[in-house]
Amino acid sequence: MAKTTTLFVCNECGYESGKWYGKCPECGAWNSFTQVAQADVKATRSSSRTVIAPQNIGKIQSVAEKRTSTGYAEFDRVLGGREDNVGMVPGAVMLLSGDPGVGKSTIMLQLALHLATLGKTVVYVTGEESESQVKMRAERITSAKALGALPLFILATTDIDAAIESATQVNPDLVIIDSVQTMVSQELTGFAGSIPQIRYTTSRLVSFAKGKNIPVYLIGHVTKEGMVAGPMMLSHMVDTVLYLEGELLTGTRILRAFKNRFGDTSEVGIFLMEENGLVELSDAASFFVDKKDGTVPGSCITVVMEGSRPLLVEIQALVVPSNLAYPRRVANGIAEKRLELLLAVLQKHARVPVDRMDIFVNVVGGLKIQEPAVDLAVCLAIASSHRGKSLKSTVAIAEVGLLGEIKHVVNLEKRIKEAQKFGFKRVVSAKDGQFLNSIVQKNII
Ligand code: TYD
Ligand code: MG
Repeated sequence: MAKTTTLFVCNECGYESGKWYGKCPECGAWNSFTQVAQADVKATRSSSRTVIAPQNIGKIQSVAEKRTSTGYAEFDRVLGGREDNVGMVPGAVMLLSGDPGVGKSTIMLQLALHLATLGKTVVYVTGEESESQVKMRAERITSAKALGALPLFILATTDIDAAIESATQVNPDLVIIDSVQTMVSQELTGFAGSIPQIRYTTSRLVSFAKGKNIPVYLIGHVTKEGMVAGPMMLSHMVDTVLYLEGELLTGTRILRAFKNRFGDTSEVGIFLMEENGLVELSDAASFFVDKKDGTVPGSCITVVMEGSRPLLVEIQALVVPSNLAYPRRVANGIAEKRLELLLAVLQKHARVPVDRMDIFVNVVGGLKIQEPAVDLAVCLAIASSHRGKSLKSTVAIAEVGLLGEIKHVVNLEKRIKEAQKFGFKRVVSAKDGQFLNSIVQKNII
């Protein structure tokens, strides 16, 4: 009997099976199975296999890897490392993902230009744009004159085998692939972006990077759900997964690491998209605060921690009577569910009647905040708008519980110091009251 020549692979987790499933038995995802030809699978498997002998741990030499700085302190901070040894680890494979238009190609090109200025050879493989389009982008970032002498090589191709071959000849210090979803190998049958192609491309680049000790960046698209497109396995295959996020309109861009074999994942890098590329935000600490005197009702400042760094953030709220059966609750920068919860607490425990009100909450500057330390600032901003009384530059730092209790947050002293550094004298935290009710009374009425 002829053997099966097809195989089904789950897009989400990479689970393989001889038959199709509506729901993946491994990860539970629905409609995630794609059929791939058996030959494709064999090719992708064999390419990543190298024969190595185990070594006794005592005999292995430990060398502190010399990292290469990207030239951007904000970028280096995310990649990790210590004081004088920050940036990219040799042979590391890094995946940079993010929404279309957020600036992935721009930041990679800036990095390439910086390293080339230092005399390092960089190969930038683009499957999305032509050489001249990349050149035009480079001219926005640097002057055309400066570009002339740089060891930066642009390769416009979607053929991954050809790209690796020419990169091997150039023997660069850095390789950038823009993007992994556009690369194809003639050895496989699938189309660009299909699971076997992505898997093949990534595994070839991983062996290239590890074999030659050259760092490689892969740019990856994200799906509508915000996941890195392609199999989850892509994230498993690389050393570092970076995510560039931001509000397309505000220009703020935040770089985070979701996975990092060589560093902490809690640090973020903050940039601004400007006329000639992304610039580092040097006064990030107070960027997210509107430069007003704090006399308008509905505004409250808080301090959030992004990794080890405290950031001052302004929360704005607008409360207006509603004539809808279901009043509107719009949250920008905090989770809508969290807003609903805080409104219920305000209503029940602080007696702020918000049930017949339309409520809009915005985090200034387009930052997305997940930590509950902003709860109190959100509550106070809402109460302030509701009563029409300003908080006069008050900084609020505390979590609010379901019983209206005020909870301590981590790094409180560090946050308070940061607020004081920027001249804010009034800081409200769990030290100032146990219950939301009394804090609202004290500050607003
Ligand atoms: P791009 O890097 O092409 O995004 P991605 O690769 O993530 O899809 O960035 C595209 C956007 O950035 C585009 O809308 C224009 C803007 N941009 C600037 O504002 N300034 C610049 O100097 C450059 C190069 C791009
Ligand atoms: Mg791009």
